[in-house]
Amino acid sequence: MSRVKIAPSILAADFADFGAECRAAEAQGADWIHVDVMDGHFVPNITFGPAMCKALRPHVATVMDVHLMIAPVDPFIEAFAEAGADILTAHVEAGPHLHRTLQAIRAAGVKAGVALNPATPAAAVAPVLDMVDLVCVMTVNPGFGGQSFLSSQLPKIAELRRMIGDRPIHLEVDGGVDAATAPRVTEAGADVLVAGSAVFRGGSAAAPAPYGENIRAI
Ligand code: DX5
Ligand code: ZN
Repeated sequence: MSRVKIAPSILAADFADFGAECRAAEAQGADWIHVDVMDGHFVPNITFGPAMCKALRPHVATVMDVHLMIAPVDPFIEAFAEAGADILTAHVEAGPHLHRTLQAIRAAGVKAGVALNPATPAAAVAPVLDMVDLVCVMTVNPGFGGQSFLSSQLPKIAELRRMIGDRPIHLEVDGGVDAATAPRVTEAGADVLVAGSAVFRGGSAAAPAPYGENIRAI
Protein backbone atom coordinates (compact mmCIF):
# COMPACT_ATOMS: atom_id res chain seq x y z
CA MET A 1 0.00 0.00 0.00
CA SER A 2 1.17 3.54 -0.60
CA ARG A 3 1.08 6.30 1.97
CA VAL A 4 -1.44 6.46 4.78
CA LYS A 5 -4.78 8.04 3.92
CA ILE A 6 -6.65 10.42 6.22
CA ALA A 7 -10.44 10.14 6.21
CA PRO A 8 -12.00 12.98 8.24
CA SER A 9 -15.27 11.96 9.89
CA ILE A 10 -17.96 14.58 9.38
CA LEU A 11 -19.48 13.53 12.70
CA ALA A 12 -17.23 16.25 14.14
CA ALA A 13 -18.01 18.82 11.43
CA ASP A 14 -20.57 21.65 11.44
CA PHE A 15 -23.92 19.86 11.00
CA ALA A 16 -25.44 22.97 9.45
CA ASP A 17 -22.78 23.16 6.74
CA PHE A 18 -21.71 19.67 5.65
CA GLY A 19 -21.14 20.53 1.99
CA ALA A 20 -18.74 23.34 2.80
CA GLU A 21 -17.04 21.27 5.50
CA CYS A 22 -16.33 18.43 3.04
CA ARG A 23 -15.01 20.85 0.40
CA ALA A 24 -12.80 22.58 2.97
CA ALA A 25 -11.41 19.29 4.32
CA GLU A 26 -10.63 18.02 0.81
CA ALA A 27 -9.08 21.31 -0.28
CA GLN A 28 -6.80 21.05 2.73
CA GLY A 29 -5.62 17.49 2.19
CA ALA A 30 -8.31 14.98 3.19
CA ASP A 31 -7.93 11.78 1.14
CA TRP A 32 -11.43 10.42 1.79
CA ILE A 33 -14.56 11.68 3.57
CA HIS A 34 -15.91 9.34 6.27
CA VAL A 35 -19.68 9.40 6.85
CA ASP A 36 -20.96 7.85 10.09
CA VAL A 37 -24.48 6.49 9.73
CA MET A 38 -26.15 5.66 13.07
CA ASP A 39 -29.63 4.35 13.74
CA GLY A 40 -30.25 4.67 17.49
CA HIS A 41 -30.57 0.87 17.63
CA PHE A 42 -27.23 -0.71 16.73
CA VAL A 43 -25.56 2.27 18.42
CA PRO A 44 -27.00 4.72 20.95
CA ASN A 45 -27.03 7.74 18.64
CA ILE A 46 -28.77 8.87 15.44
CA THR A 47 -27.10 10.70 12.57
CA PHE A 48 -28.05 10.59 8.90
CA GLY A 49 -29.46 8.40 6.16
CA PRO A 50 -29.25 7.90 2.40
CA ALA A 51 -30.84 11.27 1.56
CA MET A 52 -28.07 13.08 3.38
CA CYS A 53 -25.42 11.02 1.58
CA LYS A 54 -27.04 11.85 -1.74
CA ALA A 55 -27.05 15.56 -0.91
CA LEU A 56 -23.41 15.35 0.12
CA ARG A 57 -22.22 13.49 -2.97
CA PRO A 58 -21.66 16.57 -5.18
CA HIS A 59 -19.48 18.06 -2.43
CA VAL A 60 -17.19 15.03 -2.15
CA ALA A 61 -14.68 14.81 -4.98
CA THR A 62 -12.62 12.01 -3.43
CA VAL A 63 -14.02 8.87 -1.83
CA MET A 64 -17.26 8.79 0.14
CA ASP A 65 -16.53 6.19 2.81
CA VAL A 66 -19.85 5.30 4.46
CA HIS A 67 -19.71 3.55 7.84
CA LEU A 68 -23.03 1.84 8.52
CA MET A 69 -23.68 1.52 12.25
CA ILE A 70 -27.18 0.19 11.64
CA ALA A 71 -29.06 -3.07 12.14
CA PRO A 72 -30.56 -4.55 10.11
CA VAL A 73 -28.28 -3.33 7.35
CA ASP A 74 -29.43 -5.27 4.26
CA PRO A 75 -32.66 -3.30 3.61
CA PHE A 76 -30.65 -0.07 3.22
CA ILE A 77 -27.73 -1.19 1.03
CA GLU A 78 -29.39 -0.33 -2.27
CA ALA A 79 -30.38 3.15 -1.05
CA PHE A 80 -26.87 4.01 0.13
CA ALA A 81 -25.41 2.67 -3.12
CA GLU A 82 -27.80 4.84 -5.12
CA ALA A 83 -26.90 7.79 -2.90
CA GLY A 84 -23.37 7.55 -4.27
CA ALA A 85 -21.34 5.80 -1.59
CA ASP A 86 -17.98 4.53 -2.86
CA ILE A 87 -17.45 2.20 0.10
CA LEU A 88 -20.13 0.72 2.34
CA THR A 89 -18.86 -0.75 5.59
CA ALA A 90 -21.10 -3.02 7.65
CA HIS A 91 -20.44 -4.33 11.14
CA VAL A 92 -19.71 -7.97 11.95
CA GLU A 93 -22.05 -7.59 14.94
CA ALA A 94 -24.98 -6.11 12.99
CA GLY A 95 -26.63 -9.41 12.18
CA PRO A 96 -26.26 -13.12 11.56
CA HIS A 97 -25.66 -12.86 7.80
CA LEU A 98 -22.45 -10.92 7.24
CA HIS A 99 -21.61 -12.98 4.16
CA ARG A 100 -24.94 -12.13 2.55
CA THR A 101 -24.55 -8.46 3.45
CA LEU A 102 -21.10 -8.24 1.84
CA GLN A 103 -22.38 -10.03 -1.27
CA ALA A 104 -25.23 -7.52 -1.48
CA ILE A 105 -22.88 -4.54 -1.15
CA ARG A 106 -20.68 -5.74 -3.99
CA ALA A 107 -23.72 -6.66 -6.08
CA ALA A 108 -24.84 -3.04 -5.69
CA GLY A 109 -21.60 -1.98 -7.40
CA VAL A 110 -19.97 -0.56 -4.29
CA LYS A 111 -16.74 -1.48 -2.50
CA ALA A 112 -17.40 -3.57 0.60
CA GLY A 113 -16.00 -2.97 4.06
CA VAL A 114 -16.37 -4.86 7.31
CA ALA A 115 -16.00 -3.25 10.75
CA LEU A 116 -15.15 -4.90 14.08
CA ASN A 117 -16.23 -3.59 17.46
CA PRO A 118 -13.57 -3.56 20.20
CA ALA A 119 -14.81 -6.84 21.71
CA THR A 120 -14.84 -8.69 18.36
CA PRO A 121 -11.73 -10.74 17.55
CA ALA A 122 -9.85 -10.49 14.26
CA ALA A 123 -10.77 -14.12 13.50
CA ALA A 124 -14.40 -13.04 12.97
CA VAL A 125 -13.51 -11.68 9.52
CA ALA A 126 -11.24 -14.52 8.37
CA PRO A 127 -14.05 -16.29 6.43
CA VAL A 128 -14.96 -13.13 4.50
CA LEU A 129 -11.54 -11.62 3.74
CA ASP A 130 -11.83 -12.53 0.07
CA MET A 131 -15.10 -10.57 -0.16
CA VAL A 132 -13.96 -7.19 1.16
CA ASP A 133 -12.03 -4.14 0.04
CA LEU A 134 -11.63 -2.72 3.54
CA VAL A 135 -11.44 -3.89 7.14
CA CYS A 136 -12.20 -1.27 9.80
CA VAL A 137 -10.96 -1.74 13.35
CA MET A 138 -12.96 0.29 15.86
CA THR A 139 -10.68 1.78 18.48
CA VAL A 140 -13.65 3.18 20.43
CA ASN A 141 -17.11 1.78 21.01
CA PRO A 142 -19.10 3.11 18.05
CA GLY A 143 -21.73 5.79 18.58
CA PHE A 144 -19.92 8.99 19.41
CA GLY A 145 -16.97 11.09 18.34
CA GLY A 146 -14.38 12.44 20.75
CA GLN A 147 -13.83 9.27 22.78
CA SER A 148 -10.47 8.00 24.03
CA PHE A 149 -8.45 5.65 21.87
CA LEU A 150 -8.44 2.02 23.08
CA SER A 151 -4.81 0.82 22.98
CA SER A 152 -6.08 -2.70 23.61
CA GLN A 153 -6.95 -2.82 19.89
CA LEU A 154 -3.36 -2.43 18.65
CA PRO A 155 -2.54 -6.18 18.61
CA LYS A 156 -5.75 -6.76 16.62
CA ILE A 157 -4.66 -4.23 14.01
CA ALA A 158 -1.30 -6.01 13.67
CA GLU A 159 -3.02 -9.40 13.49
CA LEU A 160 -5.35 -8.21 10.73
CA ARG A 161 -2.41 -6.78 8.80
CA ARG A 162 -0.84 -10.26 8.87
CA MET A 163 -4.13 -11.92 7.90
CA ILE A 164 -4.63 -9.52 4.97
CA GLY A 165 -1.16 -10.31 3.62
CA ASP A 166 -0.81 -9.10 0.06
CA ARG A 167 -4.54 -8.83 -0.67
CA PRO A 168 -5.57 -5.38 -1.94
CA ILE A 169 -7.56 -4.59 1.22
CA HIS A 170 -7.39 -1.33 3.14
CA LEU A 171 -6.93 -1.60 6.90
CA GLU A 172 -8.79 1.32 8.43
CA VAL A 173 -8.76 2.43 12.06
CA ASP A 174 -11.65 4.46 13.47
CA GLY A 175 -11.91 6.20 16.83
CA GLY A 176 -9.69 8.43 18.92
CA VAL A 177 -7.09 8.84 16.19
CA ASP A 178 -5.00 11.98 16.67
CA ALA A 179 -1.38 13.12 16.45
CA ALA A 180 -0.46 11.00 19.48
CA THR A 181 -2.21 7.76 18.53
CA ALA A 182 -1.75 7.83 14.72
CA PRO A 183 1.90 6.67 14.75
CA ARG A 184 0.90 3.68 16.88
CA VAL A 185 -1.84 2.55 14.51
CA THR A 186 0.25 3.02 11.38
CA GLU A 187 3.09 1.10 13.00
CA ALA A 188 0.61 -1.70 13.69
CA GLY A 189 -0.25 -1.75 9.98
CA ALA A 190 -3.21 0.58 9.34
CA ASP A 191 -3.26 2.47 6.03
CA VAL A 192 -6.49 4.51 6.41
CA LEU A 193 -7.00 6.66 9.49
CA VAL A 194 -10.45 8.02 10.31
CA ALA A 195 -10.27 11.17 12.40
CA GLY A 196 -13.19 13.32 13.47
CA SER A 197 -12.39 15.67 16.31
CA ALA A 198 -8.67 15.77 15.51
CA VAL A 199 -9.42 17.19 12.03
CA PHE A 200 -12.47 19.39 12.53
CA ARG A 201 -11.57 20.96 15.87
CA GLY A 202 -10.70 24.60 15.93
CA GLY A 203 -12.83 25.92 13.13
CA SER A 204 -15.79 25.94 10.82
CA ALA A 205 -15.64 25.85 7.04
CA ALA A 206 -16.79 29.49 6.91
CA ALA A 207 -13.94 30.80 9.05
CA PRO A 208 -10.33 30.09 8.07
CA ALA A 209 -10.38 26.46 9.08
CA PRO A 210 -7.19 24.84 10.36
CA TYR A 211 -8.05 21.49 8.79
CA GLY A 212 -4.87 21.25 6.72
CA GLU A 213 -2.74 21.88 9.76
CA ASN A 214 -4.76 19.33 11.75
CA ILE A 215 -4.47 16.71 8.97
CA ARG A 216 -0.72 17.19 8.63
CA ALA A 217 -0.32 16.80 12.40
CA ILE A 218 -1.90 13.31 12.32
C1 DX5 B 1 -17.60 6.48 16.05
C2 DX5 B 1 -17.40 6.83 14.60
C3 DX5 B 1 -16.12 7.51 14.31
C4 DX5 B 1 -15.97 8.83 15.01
C5 DX5 B 1 -14.54 9.17 15.15
O1 DX5 B 1 -18.77 5.76 16.19
O2 DX5 B 1 -17.45 5.66 13.81
O3 DX5 B 1 -15.93 7.65 12.92
O4 DX5 B 1 -16.61 9.86 14.33
O5 DX5 B 1 -14.46 10.35 15.86
P1 DX5 B 1 -13.15 10.75 16.66
O6 DX5 B 1 -12.03 10.84 15.68
O7 DX5 B 1 -13.50 12.05 17.27
O8 DX5 B 1 -12.92 9.65 17.67
ZN1 ZN C 1 -16.84 5.78 11.64
